[in-house]
Amino acid sequence: MINAPFLFLSCFLFRHFHAISCNTNTDRDALFSFKSQVSDPTNSLSSWSLHSNHCTWKGVTCSKLGNRVQSLILPGLSLSGKLPPHLSNLTYLHSLDLSNNSFHGQIPKDLAHLSLLNVIQLSSNNLSGTLPPQLGHLHRLQVLDFSVNNLTGQIPPSFANLSSLENLSLATNGLEGEIPSELGNLRNLSFLQISANNFSGQFPTSIFNISSLVFLSVTKNNLEGKLPQNFGHFLPNLKNLHLASNRFEGIIPNSISNASHLQYIDLAHNKFHGSIPPFNNLKNLTHLILGNNFLSSTTSLNFQFFYSLRNSTQLQILMINDNHLAGDLPSSVANLSGNLQQFCVANNFLTGALHDLQKLVIYSNRLSGEIPDFFGNLTNLYTLGMGNNQFSGRIHRSIGQCKRLTILDLGMNRLGGTIPKEIFQLSGLTSLYLAGNSLQGSLPPKVGTMKQLETMDISDNQLSENIPMEIEHCFSLKWLMMARNKFNGSIPTNIGNLASLETLDLSSNSLTGPIPESLEKLEYIQKLNLSFNHLEGEVPMEGLFTNLTKFDLRGNNQLCSLSKENAQNLGVLLCVAGKNKRKIVLPTILAVVGAIALFISMVFLFWTMKKKRKERKTSLSSAPFRGLPQNIKYGDIRIATDNFAAENLIGKGGFGSVYKGVFNFSNGETATLAVKVLDLQQSKASKSFNVECEALKNIRHRNLVKVITSCSSLDYNGEEFKALVMQFMPNGNLDVNIHPEDEESGSFLTLMQRLSIAIDVASAVDYLHHDCNPPIVHCDLKPANVLLDENMTAHVADFGLAKFLSQNASEKRSSTLGLEGSIGYIAPEYGFGGKASTEGDVYSFGILMLEMFTGKRPTDKMFKEGLSLSKFVSAMDENEVLMFVDGRLIDDHEYSTQSSNTDDHGSGFESKTYWTLKAEECIADVIIVGLCCTADQPKERWSIREASSKLRAIRHSMLTS
Ligand SMILES: *[C@@H]1O[C@H](CO)[C@@H](O)[C@H](O)[C@H]1NC(C)=O
Ligand SMILES: *[C@@H]1O[C@H](CO)[C@@H](O)[C@H](O)[C@H]1NC(C)=O
Ligand SMILES: *[C@@H]1O[C@H](CO)[C@@H](O)[C@H](O)[C@H]1NC(C)=O
Ligand SMILES: *[C@@H]1O[C@H](CO)[C@@H](O)[C@H](O)[C@H]1NC(C)=O
Repeated sequence: MINAPFLFLSCFLFRHFHAISCNTNTDRDALFSFKSQVSDPTNSLSSWSLHSNHCTWKGVTCSKLGNRVQSLILPGLSLSGKLPPHLSNLTYLHSLDLSNNSFHGQIPKDLAHLSLLNVIQLSSNNLSGTLPPQLGHLHRLQVLDFSVNNLTGQIPPSFANLSSLENLSLATNGLEGEIPSELGNLRNLSFLQISANNFSGQFPTSIFNISSLVFLSVTKNNLEGKLPQNFGHFLPNLKNLHLASNRFEGIIPNSISNASHLQYIDLAHNKFHGSIPPFNNLKNLTHLILGNNFLSSTTSLNFQFFYSLRNSTQLQILMINDNHLAGDLPSSVANLSGNLQQFCVANNFLTGALHDLQKLVIYSNRLSGEIPDFFGNLTNLYTLGMGNNQFSGRIHRSIGQCKRLTILDLGMNRLGGTIPKEIFQLSGLTSLYLAGNSLQGSLPPKVGTMKQLETMDISDNQLSENIPMEIEHCFSLKWLMMARNKFNGSIPTNIGNLASLETLDLSSNSLTGPIPESLEKLEYIQKLNLSFNHLEGEVPMEGLFTNLTKFDLRGNNQLCSLSKENAQNLGVLLCVAGKNKRKIVLPTILAVVGAIALFISMVFLFWTMKKKRKERKTSLSSAPFRGLPQNIKYGDIRIATDNFAAENLIGKGGFGSVYKGVFNFSNGETATLAVKVLDLQQSKASKSFNVECEALKNIRHRNLVKVITSCSSLDYNGEEFKALVMQFMPNGNLDVNIHPEDEESGSFLTLMQRLSIAIDVASAVDYLHHDCNPPIVHCDLKPANVLLDENMTAHVADFGLAKFLSQNASEKRSSTLGLEGSIGYIAPEYGFGGKASTEGDVYSFGILMLEMFTGKRPTDKMFKEGLSLSKFVSAMDENEVLMFVDGRLIDDHEYSTQSSNTDDHGSGFESKTYWTLKAEECIADVIIVGLCCTADQPKERWSIREASSKLRAIRHSMLTS
């Protein structure tokens, strides 16, 4: 019995290790040349060594199928030098990321040869020169990022051909001129970032029609233009609109609200005029920056836009400063987002009453000057956030009138004077931040009345005198921060009554006396910092003091500990008999070194079950057709084909038509044969006939179509007639079998049938290349020239273009035909005047294999310029290839029928899965063979013998398990 888990295991391992791979020295050489030309001060490329496979090198990833370099990802490694031209030899590259290095010089225009590129990331280097227009040929490019370099010149209009482009980033360079309006053709563009250049002229309105746009930034240029009236309708995906610091003019159209995903609108520093439009329903708006324009308003109606922002609850920044706005700020200002952090209306002509204002939140601005004595007008205020500005002067006592205040943040300003005691009458206050000012004086005992106070941060001031013991009554306090002031005296004994305290920081003051034992009671404390004071006496030993990570007592020279261990750990003295003797105990450094290494060794047993394969019956009728005249006549053929009846026409090739004919032999037997009738109107057909006759005269192989005889005579009109009589193949050619016209009725070639056919073709070609003398090159291998007999055994046919190779491969006995072959299958070097070669046949064979197992013709429309079937397949990883293979190939049907007679395999479900895995593995391996046969460089291709033996090995592995 097969042990199913074992099968899974071996299968799993097998799937991740393809024993088959081709030599890819082009890629390896290109990477070596790259390394040799680049300066690598931090030795980041040390893994790029002669002794290892280049696919394991840092930053390099290869395709699983075919081992070709697919990505070179080396950002931020301080690499410098010119961009090596060798990069353009990595023909299978998808992604190139050399961002954040110091490459200089020009962008090599040969990058345009890398037709599979999806991503070019060269941002943050020192590249100079212009953008090569040739890059416009990269039809698959999705990301082109040259931002933060020193590029000059214009954007080439050819970039409008980058039809797959999603991200174009050219920001922060010295680019200039007009933006080509053709860029509006980039229908997939979602990210256009060209800010901080010298672009000028009219900004093309075509760009506002790219409905896929998510991010548009053209800030800091000299662009002119208006926003088209309807632009918001065409930008349903736009999230970021950055046009700041240009010369845009006109009004801001109301349609902006239709771009409902907008989050960030920055139109500052332009010449927009008119009133501010409503921004209805921009629910995710966080930034609205309209400052420094000529926006105007005369009546409060024009402030409807404040109202329109009611639903923009994420708004953080609202800047309408430096415009010509006039009138009263409406009360709707008070309903602006609770998340508002900056609200800047400065430099307008605004007046307004703010009685109803509940929140005034202007954190983190650079607001300066004294805070006006306006609190008496803000009696409904519950949040006042003015922190992190540059306010100076005193805090006015009128703050005491904001009786509803719960959050008061005046921290991180330049405020001086004392803390007005009125603040401590704000009994609803939960958070008080006054840290980081220059406040002086004491903390009044009144603080004890603040029962709601949870956070008090008054650190980093000049506060002095004692900490009032009343603070122990602020029982809601969780965070009490008073560090870096000048408090003196001792810590209130009962401070431990603040049961909720989580953080207490009294560090860097001048506190004296003992550490109150009451602190031991604090259950929730996470951080107690009493460091850098003048505390003395014993360090308590219970509660939080048992956990060294929770408290900090450094810089208090007079502390001591009763426990020797604690004294050591804390770096304090050891208390002796209640008194501290000067006996310094040096702190001990504890070093914990632990290393646990687990070694797990696994033994995998591979269980090989040999399943006897049923011998496929091969009924090759190799007996000669006795009785057929050596030279048959036109008349015989005419009779056999029923006067060349259309229903007997079985194919039309380059040089003629093939008919099915039924011949009656002199001995009374009949046989069905194929007759290839040459079309002598074609000047080359006659030559092709001679070539084919010559080629087939002496060769004999079970996978070559057998020519029985030839006919060269005159037809009844006295015209010359030439035909070849061949074995008839009832199952037609491979092309119609791979691509049946009628998917439903056409019989489907199973995986094993395809594999056998591939082996048959390889055997035939192997015979021609290696066993014939002189060797024969077929020159036109393609599925249409592979015929299938009644047993689905393949026979290679059509030798009309064949060539004999003489010993000296450069002279050919038959060289007059020139190299033709069929588009899609012909090797690339033939296009450059290469001579017929066995490598050329291997290429065509590889394409045939890829076509057979992927179901895609090499002439498919999807293989546009620069992309061939083999590049396409090697561009994908294994799973993608499998997704695009016909599902019926990995269907378990074949396996079930094959093994239905055998009784020794696992349960149905497991065997199915097992078969599927095997089938996928087989397809992946076969495709690797196809790729190894279709390397660009003839030298790198396998020989047909190598391919043939690999295919046999794959079949063997399929049939044994
Ligand atoms: C690219 O590869 C070809 C063939 O391997 C080689 O002749 C050529 O020098 C290479 N070019 C560069 C720039 O490395
Ligand atoms: C940018 O290029 C200009 C000349 O095109 C040169 O003068 C300048 O020094 C370069 N700047 C940097 C930072 O390389
Ligand atoms: C707002 O953002 C949320 C969360 O990112 C998202 O789910 C939602 O679709 C966005 N709404 C709009 C109108 O953009
Ligand atoms: C805010 O949203 C509510 C509910 O979605 C809607 O009824 C109202 O009109 C919106 N207000 C504004 C000013 O967009």
